[in-house]
Formats: sequence, structure tokens, C-alpha cells
Amino acid sequence: MTLGLKIPKKLAESTRRFLIQRGLLDKKYKVIRDQSFVYFPIIMPLESSESFNGEIVDLDFPLSEATINFKEYVSSKIPSTLIQYLPSSWDQIDDVIVVELHPMLELYKSSIAEGIMSSHPHIKAVFEKISSVSGTTRVRRLRLLAGKDPVKVVHKEYGIQLVIRLHEVYFSPRLGLEHYKVSKMVGSQEKVVDLFTGVGAFPLHIATNTDSEIYAIDINPQAIECLKESIQLNYKRLKGRIHPICADSRKWVAGANLSQSFDRVIMNHPSRAYEFLDLVHYLLRPNGILHFYSFEREDRWQWSSLLKLSKALKVYGRRINEVIGVRKIRLYSPHEFHVGTVIRVS
Ligand SMILES: C[S@@+](CC[C@H](N)C(=O)[O-])C[C@H]1O[C@@H](n2cnc3c(N)ncnc32)[C@H](O)[C@@H]1O
Repeated sequence: MTLGLKIPKKLAESTRRFLIQRGLLDKKYKVIRDQSFVYFPIIMPLESSESFNGEIVDLDFPLSEATINFKEYVSSKIPSTLIQYLPSSWDQIDDVIVVELHPMLELYKSSIAEGIMSSHPHIKAVFEKISSVSGTTRVRRLRLLAGKDPVKVVHKEYGIQLVIRLHEVYFSPRLGLEHYKVSKMVGSQEKVVDLFTGVGAFPLHIATNTDSEIYAIDINPQAIECLKESIQLNYKRLKGRIHPICADSRKWVAGANLSQSFDRVIMNHPSRAYEFLDLVHYLLRPNGILHFYSFEREDRWQWSSLLKLSKALKVYGRRINEVIGVRKIRLYSPHEFHVGTVIRVS
């Protein structure tokens, strides 16, 4: 069964455009139609404000032509016993596909990549993930399997253009909805700091939505260069002001005279964010909002981040005044979730 959005026929075209623009349409499956309704396969549940007059349903959507063509192409190239190891999903960044391949497929990587290219004619390159995200800059190593390496692409997230240097920066297209949701929570004239901004997706979304001021910090110079280029590309639609800063967040906080002056602090560096919690005290004004991201075990994700945050803030005489939300963003490992915690801090 696949998640779907059931929508009255007359709203189908605007809904289709909306879902494609936001990267929410699951292109592995075909759209279904009956007399009165259209059913769109979607990759995740929508916010109620996003689902128009629709209803979320679970349906057996037929595979799309592209998926059928990929499976047919590859089936003729690899032994039938290996079909079960074929990838069921991949990441698309602009017109590049990044895929993780099972070790059993080692000898057939080129055929699989050619299969992806021939069934998705708009795709210009297929890369294989050859490492996990690692090191300070959280960059993943990629190997070109088919097509031509564009080195740099412009990925669209909710209509915002993001410049991505594929081999030099961290970027996950799976965070698009999170960037969008956070931007909708930011009010007019707010002062925001994003301590681990990467290519600056949060700041770009926020500045598109409100006339806020956003400090965007990252230790990776390539990521900050991407952000600067994106600011130029999106210049006309930005209502807010972004300050791109290449620095170690800790050193930047020590050197800047910004004591408790921010309405909102964003910390999306889930593997290490707990180590930087002291910065929250120096940056966040009383009753300001913290967006904190961490990896939490599946059996305790609803409360483990709150427990740890509460303990860490207590050291500075601060406490959690309000829990605005604790949400699963995605599965990180078989027993861990990437969790987003939003709290108001005293
Ligand atoms: C998970 S990525 C950021 C993702 C980004 N917030 C997004 O939503 O797309 C973590 C980022 O933290 C940066 N980073 C790691 N240590 C840092 C530090 N001490 N100060 C500033 N940035 C740091 C890395 O370069 C990397 O871009």
C-alpha cells in the first residue's frame, strides 16, 4: 500500500503542480482517476493546510512507466536472483540521481545506472553513495556511475533555488518539507540564527517567507559559497535578510557581541548538536524558540531529546517553558530516528 492524496477532479491540475513543486509526488507510481476523484501517490503525509480539500488514503497504486521500464531494462541485464536487491528508492538532486546499491549488485552497477538513465530521460547523471556522511563538514563521497558529472547543480525546493556543489557540501533532498515547515513558524521581523546552516536551506526558506534577519553559519567554506550564490539567484523573492558567515559556530559566538538577542535558534547537526547546547544560552532571548535536531532511539524518541535538553539548559538556569513539538523527520538507522524538537526556552 502507498500513501495517497484523494482530491476532487476539478482541483487535480493545481494539486499536481503543487505536489511536484514541493517534491511530494511519488513518481514511482501512477496517478489513479475515477469519475469524481484523482488519487496522487505521495511520499509523506501532508500538513492539513497543504492537503486542500483532499483526504489522505492508503492505496495500491500501479507502478509508473519509468519504474516498469527500469525494472524491465535491468531484469534483462542481471541474474533473476539479484532482482530482490535492486534499490526501491533513491535521492534526486536537481537532475542527478544518488543511489545506494546493495553489495550483492557490485558487478552490475553500470547496468543499473544505465537502466535508471534510460527510464528517466531527464536525468543527466547517476551517482553511487560510497561513504556515509562523515567528518566535520558531513560530506558524503559519491562515485559517478553513468552520465556526466555536473559538479554543481541548482536544486529546487518549494520553488527556491539551492546551489549545491555535489562533492563538497552536505545536502539531503529529504529535508525539504522540514525547511518549509520551520519557515512557516517564523514571524515578521524575527532575528534568527542557524548555527549549522549547510547550503543555507533554512535561511533561504525563512527569508522567502518573512522580513526576518537570519545569521547563517557554517564551518564549510564551500557551503557558504553555495549560500551566497543562492542568495543572488533568489534575490528578487527574498523578503528577509541573510548574513552568510563561514565560521566555527562556537568561535563565532565567542567573538560576536550578540548576547541573548535571538528570537530563534536552529541547530540541525544531529550527530553533534548536544555538544553545542551551551551556545543556546548565549544566543536565545528569554522565551525564545529553539529548533533542535538529534538522532534518538526508536523506543524513546518522543521524550529522550526533551529530557536531555531540559538537563542541559538547567545548568544555565534556563528551562523548557513550552514544548511546541517533537517530530520524527526520517529514519536514520534501523533503530534510530532523526528527530526535530521545537521548544520555548525560559
Ligand atoms: C547536517 S549538516 C547541515 C544541514 C542543514 N542544516 C540543512 O538543513 O540542510 C551539518 C553542517 O554543520 C556544519 N558544521 C559542523 N561543525 C560545525 C561547527 N563547529 N560550526 C559550524 N558549522 C559546523 C557542517 O559543515 C555541515 O554543513
